[in-house]
Formats: sequence, structure tokens, C-alpha cells
Amino acid sequence: MCGIFGYIGKDDPLKTCILGLEQLEYRGYDSTGIAGLVDGQIAVCKEVGKLSKLKEKLTLERLEIAIGHTRWATHGKVTPVNAHPHQDFQDSIALVHNGIIENYDALKDEMQKQGVRFQTETDTEVLTNLISKFYEGDLVAAVQKALSHVKGHFAFALLHKAHPGEIVVAARECPLSIGVDDERTESIISSDPNAFLGKKLNILFLRGDEIAKVERGKVSVFDKNLNPIAKKTERLDAGSGAPSKEGFEHFMLKEIHEQPSTIQKAYLGRFEDGLVQFESLSHDFRSASQVCFIGCGTSAHAGAIGALFLEDLAGIPSHYEIASEARYRLLPQNTLVVAISQSGETADTISAVREMKSRGFKVLGICNVKNSTLTRETDGCIFLKAGTEVSVCSTKAFTSQITVLYLFALYFSGKGNIDELKKIPAQIEKVLEQEPRIQHIAKKYSRYDNFFFMGRRYMFPTCMEAALKLKEISYVNANGYAAGELKHGPIALIDSNFPVIAFCANHQTEEKIVSNLQEVKARGAPILALAPEHLKGISKIADDVIWLPETTDPLSPFASTVAGQLFAYFVAKERGCDIDQPRNLAKSVTVE
Ligand code: G6P
Repeated sequence: MCGIFGYIGKDDPLKTCILGLEQLEYRGYDSTGIAGLVDGQIAVCKEVGKLSKLKEKLTLERLEIAIGHTRWATHGKVTPVNAHPHQDFQDSIALVHNGIIENYDALKDEMQKQGVRFQTETDTEVLTNLISKFYEGDLVAAVQKALSHVKGHFAFALLHKAHPGEIVVAARECPLSIGVDDERTESIISSDPNAFLGKKLNILFLRGDEIAKVERGKVSVFDKNLNPIAKKTERLDAGSGAPSKEGFEHFMLKEIHEQPSTIQKAYLGRFEDGLVQFESLSHDFRSASQVCFIGCGTSAHAGAIGALFLEDLAGIPSHYEIASEARYRLLPQNTLVVAISQSGETADTISAVREMKSRGFKVLGICNVKNSTLTRETDGCIFLKAGTEVSVCSTKAFTSQITVLYLFALYFSGKGNIDELKKIPAQIEKVLEQEPRIQHIAKKYSRYDNFFFMGRRYMFPTCMEAALKLKEISYVNANGYAAGELKHGPIALIDSNFPVIAFCANHQTEEKIVSNLQEVKARGAPILALAPEHLKGISKIADDVIWLPETTDPLSPFASTVAGQLFAYFVAKERGCDIDQPRNLAKSVTVE
């Protein structure tokens, strides 16, 4: 899986490719590689680790055309040999690939019997050799023949040493965009149209086994039977330049601090004359009789809170499903599916959206990234307007998601106001002011390797999100539990080395969580409570307390979340972890 990029044109292909990969690193950073043509020969450079490693050790100097790759490993360990680009056994093709070739093993066996030797554990090398096997002078024809043998989902780009002026690309289900400038002096290939380096291009998207021959300023597209097709091009807003840390040590910390303003951006202009209006929605989704929220990771947790909003504020039965499971579930007719994704590229979410749409359900997207796959495939989309989120660990996107979801519940109910919501940015400032104290507390807890996070009602998904933050960036075992459920098994794990982080800001269930805290205290757990100011008695039970501003139950996730983000950040910092790009993760996972 991963990010793929390619360039033919007036600029330096090597430098342009590196710039493109910088923008695509969110799709994986296990290894990076670039291949190109120099005087009719293929030149390749690849390194394990981030793009910065490749830049340090770059052996390439000049390329006539270039393809590049940033990898999140699926098939084969993170090793130099498994890094992309991959070459065929005749060293005439170099190929970069996003996705999975599901029948690679059978194809590999067959080719091995025919004498092909393989160097790597990857499915990509199999694809490369398959194309090489079918090559008889026409690269597009070779790709077309190979596609008919391949199962799975993918997007790939390849070059051949006998075709110095072309890159051939193809896509099935994975995103691939191609941009050409007005003057026809350059062509760019990218997994993400937002990685077109701020250039104004005419952009087309490949789908459904389409194949394209990309030349300097020219693209020819063919369907799976090799019939030429005329694709519509789009003009997308040129993205702004690379985001900066603005003096913060990490993007995560910067993004945590942005939240008072990103939350405001998510609601400003969307509540007029007592009614919610989403500027981008042409369709009215309110005839649905129930709502199912889908998403992955942090976005799934936002969906869980969204379901509570819909029920409590609009009286609409709602639930959430992890996107990778949702596609197998039965949904009542007249269910609105709401797909939440920061990036709009998460493969599990996109696949679920396609499945739901094929079954006739209306799907609304909630997304941060304009022009992403989700925004093109849903029946309407509400944008977060949170700005680029760089840190792999999602922070500001989550609080923007729940802001939009709160408005969405009011939109459904047709009544209510946002007076309490408007107080949230100031309340978050209050939590941010406590940063030195939270850092001090985090330092104390950073020596533990196991944590329970617990909460009830609104604090249940909130504590799951906080536990996810800690897992992602500190590599410690942290599990979010419904506080009432702890006694039904998990409590067996509790001892003095197993802290409990208690999320106590949901008024309705406050007495019950206090009892649950007594239960874990009786078994020796160190306790950190995140509690609203009125709950003074909690300091007699908990070892440490982070005090939170008072608000309503539905809005309680905001301050608690920010406190949880800071706690995870400072634990990770204390443990010396790579905060913005944690091991094994990617900002957006584009395989199922
Ligand atoms: C990856 C990231 C998570 C993120 C999830 C969903 O797994 O590491 O931080 O929450 O994808 O991403 P999305 O872009 O769909 O919200």
C-alpha cells in the first residue's frame, strides 16, 4: 500500500519526485524509493525508513523520468530488498504499487515453474514480473494482459527502459490521479491529488482497471479492453505549501493547540437563524429514520459520539460500526450511512461506502481533505475545515469531527442552539493552560506499561479515543473500557502496577463511576481522574486529578479529549518515542 508518485516534464524529475513523496509520506514511511531512466537504463535508489533517510543516502543524480514510492508494509518485512520500486527479472521494468495483489502466491508459483527468480517477499515483484512476461514491445498491452490475471485492489505506475518518454499507470479501487498543465509541458501522477505540489493542473482519476499512458503533457487512457476513453478532467484548488510546526516541538503539540480555533472553524457560519446549514450539502438527508456512523480508528470514535448526539439531541436511533466490519452487517431500510474520515482515503471506509451505496443506502461523508476519494464517492460531504493534520496521531480532526457531528444532530432535530458549543473553545484554552501540570502527571505515569481508561456514556468513546492516543504514540498497552464492564473480567488484571485513568465528566453517570473507582482503588490501582470542577470528592479516591471546566454531558468529550491528548503526548515524550510518525502506523491506511 502506500503512496505513489511519478513525473515527466520540464522540471527536474528527481527533485519533483522527492517533493511529491514528502506530501505522500502520510500514507506510510516504512521505506521510500525512487526509480528513473538515465541513458536508456533504469536507476533505482531505495532506503528503509523515512524519506529523510533516502535524501541523506541518495545515489541518483539526474533522471529523465521518475517514479517514487513511500511504503507501509503489507507483504514482506521492512527491508531494503522489499522496498519499492521493484524490478522484473530482466531489469527492464521498475514499478511502484499501492494495494494488494491477492493471488500473488499462485502467480508466483506459476512463474517460478517457468524459471522466473524472485528476490523479494512482495506481491509487487510478482506483478512486475507478470507485466514483463506479457511484454512484446507495447507496454500498455502488457499491463492490460497482466490485469486480467490479477485479483485484488491496486494502483501502480511503471516505466520501461525501452520507453524513455512514458510512464504507464493503472488502477483498480485504489486512488490514482494524473495531472497535466495547460501548456502541456509536464505530467504528474499521484496517489493523492493534493500532492500536486501546488501546481494548477487538469486532473483525471483512474478507476475500474483503466490504464493510462502518461507522456510529457499528454495522457492517453484505455479501458480494460484497451479501447481509448475520453476522461473528464477537473480543475482542483491548488493546495497551499507544506505546513510548519510554527515553533512547537512536534506537529501533534501544534495541532493540539490549534483546537480552540479549529473547533470554531467547524461551526462558524453553519448556524443561522436558529438552524444548522451545511454549505456544501445539496441533498437533504433528514428523511432517514436511523443513522449508522462508520469510520476507522479515531474517526470511528467520533462516530460513536455522533451516535449518542443523534439519539440525545434529535431522538433518531443511531449506532456506529467499525468500517471494516460494517460492510458485513444488515442495516434497516431508510438508514442513512455517515462515513467519517479525516483523510478521505482510508481503504476500509471507502470499501464500506461502496458496499453501502451498492445496496442502495444514501451515504454522507464527513471529511477534512478536499478532493479525496471519500468526497467524490458519497452523496454529499461536510468538511471539517481543520486545515492539514500532519501528525499521524489525530487530534484536531477528532474535535472538529465531533463539532460537526453535534451540528449534524441539531440539523436533524431542526431545533436547539449552539450557545454551549460556543463556550467550548474557551474551555479548551483552560485545559491547555494546565499543560505544565499535565506534563508533570504524565511523567509520573510514564513508567507503567499497562493502563485501563474507563468512562460511561459520553466518556466511554472519549476514553477509548484517549487510550488509542496513548497506544499509538507511546507503545504502551492502554485499553478503553465502559466503566461498568470493568468488573466483568478486566478487573482481574488490576494491581498496583496497572493504573486506571478515569474519565468522570459525564454528569448523568457520575455516581456510578465514582463507585467503579472505589472498586479499582480497593484492588490497588494507581488512579488518575479527569473530572469536572464540582466533583471535589474525587480527590479523596484518585491519586491525581486533572480538573476540567463544567459543561453539558454531550459537550463533555471536548475538554476531556484535549486533556487525554496532552497526557498521551507527554507520556510519549518522556518515553522518547517518535511522536509525529509512530512506528508501524500511517496517517491513512489505504489497504483493507
Ligand atoms: C489510521 C491512522 C489513525 C486514523 C485512522 C482513520 O489508522 O493511524 O490515526 O484514525 O487511520 O483515518 P481517517 O483518515 O479515515 O480518519
